[in-house]
Amino acid sequence: MKICCIGAGYVGGPTMAMIAKKCHDIDVAVVDLNEARIAAWNSDCLPIYEPGLQEIVEDRRGKNLTFSTEVKSHIKLADIIFISVGTPTKNYGIGAGQAPELGYIEGCARMIAEACDGPKIVIEKSTVPVRTAELVKSVFEGYEKGHLFEILSNPEFLAEGTAITDLENPDRVLIGGDSTESGKKAVQTVVDVYNRWVPREKIVTTNVWSSELSKLVANAFLAQRVSSINAISAVCEASGADVEEVANAIGMDSRIGPKFLKSSVGFGGSCFQKDILNLVYLSGHFGLPEVAEYWNQVITMNEYQRKRFSRKVIHSLFNTLQGKRIAVLGFAFKKDTNDTRESAAIYICRDLLEEGADIVVYDPQVPAAEIKQLTNESVKIASSAEEAAKDAHAVLVLTEWDEFKDLDYSAIYQSMVKPAHIFDGRNILDLPKLESIGFNASGVGKP
Ligand code: NAD
Ligand code: UDX
Repeated sequence: MKICCIGAGYVGGPTMAMIAKKCHDIDVAVVDLNEARIAAWNSDCLPIYEPGLQEIVEDRRGKNLTFSTEVKSHIKLADIIFISVGTPTKNYGIGAGQAPELGYIEGCARMIAEACDGPKIVIEKSTVPVRTAELVKSVFEGYEKGHLFEILSNPEFLAEGTAITDLENPDRVLIGGDSTESGKKAVQTVVDVYNRWVPREKIVTTNVWSSELSKLVANAFLAQRVSSINAISAVCEASGADVEEVANAIGMDSRIGPKFLKSSVGFGGSCFQKDILNLVYLSGHFGLPEVAEYWNQVITMNEYQRKRFSRKVIHSLFNTLQGKRIAVLGFAFKKDTNDTRESAAIYICRDLLEEGADIVVYDPQVPAAEIKQLTNESVKIASSAEEAAKDAHAVLVLTEWDEFKDLDYSAIYQSMVKPAHIFDGRNILDLPKLESIGFNASGVGKP
């Protein structure tokens, strides 16, 4: 069997590496038009940082795992083709700021139709609006090749930073397909691939539309939990309650559960905002404005949380940041990834730059050039947390990298301008200990 995945990104790369690891008899080709990205996948310095990924790629590359820019030839050879290209929020025309850009999906459908002359299973791995399979199908029919393809939906639920463990031991694998004989056969083929390592009871099969929609709904529910606890963090700060104690108390209710209740500086990443906007747009499209407004509030609350954090920093520094050095620790949208898409750090840096702050950023994985580009070249980059904090008026922890927990905060305090402030946007630090060192220390939702 041969598998081809179009799109060598955060999903295509790790997902295909896992299939190659688990199925040595399947040839897996990951193809992309981006030459630099493919060159990086073929080098010692992979384009994405993900714990455990490098080892798998090094083990399977050149055996049953290939990274290539020869897109059409690999498509033609494959039995199963995954489409794993980006579906970012559209920034122009109809649906701008809400609807997903489906141009990359359509481009893939056209390439597949042009390249193939035999039967294939085509799988939507990308996150797409419900009924996107219809779009793909009509492209195939336009080439009079509709009969060659069985279109399935198999959305990906991995989270960045834990992609390899999520792929190795997923909560579930979701496969949507048609209930025709050929649809059922195609679903079974894909079930058999995952079933090499995922227990059958964790492989859920549905119709295509349920599968497409479930992905948007899963992300909307997860993001909603973060916005809900963040809303409560504001109430905690106003009332003297502690959001971690509240989260712990409510999370022990088995109906609520303890996960995804960490109050923070706001959720980021390429998925949550985009997928909720997608759901908001779809709801509007289906004539359901109340539903659209309900989900839009999750994003409004996230924006509020980021702004609230920026305002707290500005207010604590006497409402003037002109010429004050501010150390930002962490720029990635969460720990253990080099991904900065929609990271709260971008928005907070921009807020503080507007106030005239002199920002110095340290992140252990994000390239300096990327941080500079995202802040209009207005920040400086440090190569350690200590270097960033030297002569700073405030330290802001914006990503929960483990190394920030164990810094020598006494030495950092000595090197800073007094009064020295520390704002923990991830609630990973021991605030009473920092206070005893001399810091003005605050977290999110902390008394
Ligand atoms: P990405 O931007 O990292 O990668 C997409 C790749 O597709 C790019 O390298 C791009 O060059 C390539 N591409 C676009 N059009 C192409 C074409 N016609 N031919 C060949 N290559 C092409 O995106 P990603 O983060 O991997 O996300 C991909 C999809 O998976 C999105 O729909 C996203 O919502 C979804 N998803 C992402 C995550 C995540 O954690 N990042 C998790 C689950 C689902
Ligand atoms: C998310 C989904 O979890 C995953 O299933 C989907 O496939 C892609 O989108 P990802 O964005 O990679 O994954 O990371 P996730 O762990 O969900 O975190 C998203 C954001 O929410 C991060 O900025 C994170 O710091 C924040 N978050 C998460 C919180 O602020 N509090 C929490 O309790 C959990």
